[in-house]
Amino acid sequence: MNAAADASAQRVASGASSAEQSAAAPCIRVVGLHKRFGDQEVLKGISFDVHRGTVLSMIGASGSGKSTLLRCINRLETPSAGDILIEGESVCLRNGKPRSMADVNRIRRDLGMVFQQFNLWPHLTVLQNIMEAPRSVRGLSRAEARAVAQECLDRVHLGDKADAYPARLSGGQQQRVAIARALAMRPKVMLFDEATSSLDPELTEEVLAVMRDLAREGTTMIVVTHEMAFAREVSDHVMFLHNGLVDEQGPPADLFSAPRSERLRQFLTRAKA
Ligand SMILES: Nc1ncnc2c1ncn2[C@@H]1O[C@H](COP(=O)(O)OP(=O)(O)O)[C@@H](O)[C@H]1O
Ligand SMILES: [Mg+2]
Repeated sequence: MNAAADASAQRVASGASSAEQSAAAPCIRVVGLHKRFGDQEVLKGISFDVHRGTVLSMIGASGSGKSTLLRCINRLETPSAGDILIEGESVCLRNGKPRSMADVNRIRRDLGMVFQQFNLWPHLTVLQNIMEAPRSVRGLSRAEARAVAQECLDRVHLGDKADAYPARLSGGQQQRVAIARALAMRPKVMLFDEATSSLDPELTEEVLAVMRDLAREGTTMIVVTHEMAFAREVSDHVMFLHNGLVDEQGPPADLFSAPRSERLRQFLTRAKA
C-alpha cells in the first residue's frame, strides 16, 4: 500500500467509515466562488467539497489565488459571489442577508489557521500564547485552558517548552507552537497557508512531521503548500489553481504522476528544479 492509501486507511480505521463520511454533509463546501479586487478578478468561479477527516492540498504558482481562497473561507476576505458552507452553514449569508460581524467571528472560531508568519506574542510564554484564545474567545477557566494548551503542546512534541518565551525557540518550534495554538480552539478544520515557506529546509521537516501526524489522526485540513512530496503523501485530493480557476484536480497519484494539463506539467517540472 502506498503512503497516501495507508494514511487514508488509518483515518478510516480511527474515525467514521468511508460510507458514513460520504453520507454526511461535507465539512466545507465552496460553491461558485468569485473574488475581485477592484477590476482584477482573482477567483473566477471555484467549487469543491472537503469531507470530514480528509486532506485537500492546493498547489499553484504565486498569484494564482490560493491565499485569497483560504482568506475567503475564514472570512478575512468577503467573497464577491458564490458561497462557502461550513458543515452546511453559510459563512456569507443568513436569510439572504450578509452575515453580521458577530456571526463571522463565531464561524471563524471553528477554523484553525496557520500562516507563514507565526505571530506569537513575544511577551507571553509558549503556554500563555496557546491559552489566550481558549480563555478570551471560548471562555475557558485558567485551569481548563492550561490543560488544553499543555495537551496541544504535547501533540506538537513541545511539552517541555511550556514556560519558554517564543524568542528562545527556533522558527520550526515557533511554527509548531502556532499549530498548537490553532488546535487549542478545537477547530473543525485546519487551514495552512504555506506554513513552512519561511523556514530553512531542516526546520521545514519537523513542521511537516507534525502536519503529517494531524492528517493521520483524521484532522480535516486544507493545505496550501510548495512541498510537492508532502502534498503527494498526505493528501486525499489535490487542486492545481491557475489564474483563479481550478486547472486540474484529482487524487495525488494521478495529479503528480500523470498530469493532463500542460500548465500543471510545467509547474511540476519547475517545482522539482
Ligand atoms: N487585498 C488585496 N488587494 C488587491 N489585490 C490582492 C489582494 N490580495 C491579493 N490580491 C491579488 O490577488 C492575486 C492572487 O493573490 P494570492 O491569493 O495571494 O495568490 P497566491 O496565494 O496563490 O500567491 C494577486 O494578483 C494579488 O496581487
Ligand atoms: Mg499565498
